[in-house]
Amino acid sequence: MTDQPDSTDHASAPGAADFVVVANRLAVDRAKDPKTGEQSWTPSPGGLVTALRPVLRANDGAWIGWPGTTDRVEDSDMPTVEEAGGLRAIPVNLTAKNFEQYYEGFSNATLWPLYHDLIVPPRFDRDWWECYQEVNQRFADQAARTAAQDATVWVQDYQLHLVPQLLRDQRSDVCVGFFLHIPFPNPELFRQLPWRDELLKGTLGADVIGFHTQDSARNFLDTLRALGYEVSTDDDADAAEFFHGARMPEDGCIVGRVALEDGRTAKIGVFPISIDSAQVQKQSMAAETLAATTQLRAQLGAPKYLLTGVDRLDYTKGILHRLLAVESLLDSGRLDPEDIVMVQVATPSRERLDDYRKAREEVEKVVSRINGNYGQLGRPLVHYIHHGLPFAQIVGLYAATDIMLVTAIKDGMNLVAKEYVASHADGSGALVLSEFTGAATQLTQAYLCNPHDNQSICDAIVRAMEEPNETRRERMKAMWEHVEVNDVNHWANTFLHQLKEARQ
Ligand code: F6P
Repeated sequence: MTDQPDSTDHASAPGAADFVVVANRLAVDRAKDPKTGEQSWTPSPGGLVTALRPVLRANDGAWIGWPGTTDRVEDSDMPTVEEAGGLRAIPVNLTAKNFEQYYEGFSNATLWPLYHDLIVPPRFDRDWWECYQEVNQRFADQAARTAAQDATVWVQDYQLHLVPQLLRDQRSDVCVGFFLHIPFPNPELFRQLPWRDELLKGTLGADVIGFHTQDSARNFLDTLRALGYEVSTDDDADAAEFFHGARMPEDGCIVGRVALEDGRTAKIGVFPISIDSAQVQKQSMAAETLAATTQLRAQLGAPKYLLTGVDRLDYTKGILHRLLAVESLLDSGRLDPEDIVMVQVATPSRERLDDYRKAREEVEKVVSRINGNYGQLGRPLVHYIHHGLPFAQIVGLYAATDIMLVTAIKDGMNLVAKEYVASHADGSGALVLSEFTGAATQLTQAYLCNPHDNQSICDAIVRAMEEPNETRRERMKAMWEHVEVNDVNHWANTFLHQLKEARQ
């Protein structure tokens, strides 16, 4: 890791872009060949990139973000537009100290736990806050240099709360959007943040501020009201009706407005993110996937029920809670160990943070206890994988799974739930889903559970097994109908439509 000042960020950007996405991470992954040490770039497979790539292409777009390494990346190291899958990738380098204080510290050890309702205690550290401001300023400076006259700039997520206002201070001509991909907490929790006023002021530099759920949008509006802002709510915008199987309206759902001192009005809206539904469905039906699915089930000993979890290894995801529920079902005899196999894919994440290390230790302890008690030679009951898998393999796993376990303690949306539904468009499978995910506001036909209550998870799993096939099928089909139309393009289009209106 290097810790030298960052000159690249202060160099002029190669040109002006009409549409700029600003996100903590770039939309391209930097990969290093372990043998030759050669660097290469691959377009990131994430849904956000997929949705925005056509807009970026059509508008001479650029994506500003951190290249994912603390080794300096020069402009000359960056991929060409072709290599980056049709978008201009512009780096904001982070030093090792920035990584520790802005990314691991303020973003992921202060805001992340605070916004996820204190599952672990947030740490408030002034040095981290200083660094967060400094890094946000650098992202804003880069955006100011990159954006063309009257451009649209879309800032993503909690790592960059201050960018909208910092950008507006330099470029009053641009139209700015901000989208929060994680939950926004209730006013009582948010008030704990010593720098709450600065964070809100930074965010309110945006013309449109989007959330996944009504709860988050309402928490944001209530927080503003409590801190003395002039807030009006759109009474007739009853978002609830859009979340129960219907298509979100073309213009998204604005639920409130904030009048600001500079004469602007910021619109607050609900825009639940989604996936490239058609693409996932197509991939799940491809001949290679079907063959891989059959092979996987055979490899796993052709279980009566295959239960699966796919998550980043994060304490918010409730991996431990679902394992404990499966263990309880085995201990109580409600489940026969002969009947089930479980797969848990837990992708490494933020591994240097204590709370993540602890979460990993706890998960691995229970996996090994279940396998010790219920596995057989050559047949573990839980297959645990602590590394990422290619998306094609994940889709094969979804397709092979009888019961998908999404038991997050708190989650902004949870796209795994939607990907699973899209991999079972034929109505097969079953989804056990935590009430505390954004996805639960839309996928209401899932077997909903309260992950804080072991028995609630157990009951949801058993219901998913015992309900008549026809009912289970109807549930899955209804959820697919929702996911099919409310896809990631729809999400991006509705948000961008609101930004366009804001400009007019
Ligand atoms: O969903 C929240 C989020 O922080 C995203 O911004 C990010 O893509 C994902 O979690 C993974 O986190 P990280 O970038 O810290 O690895």
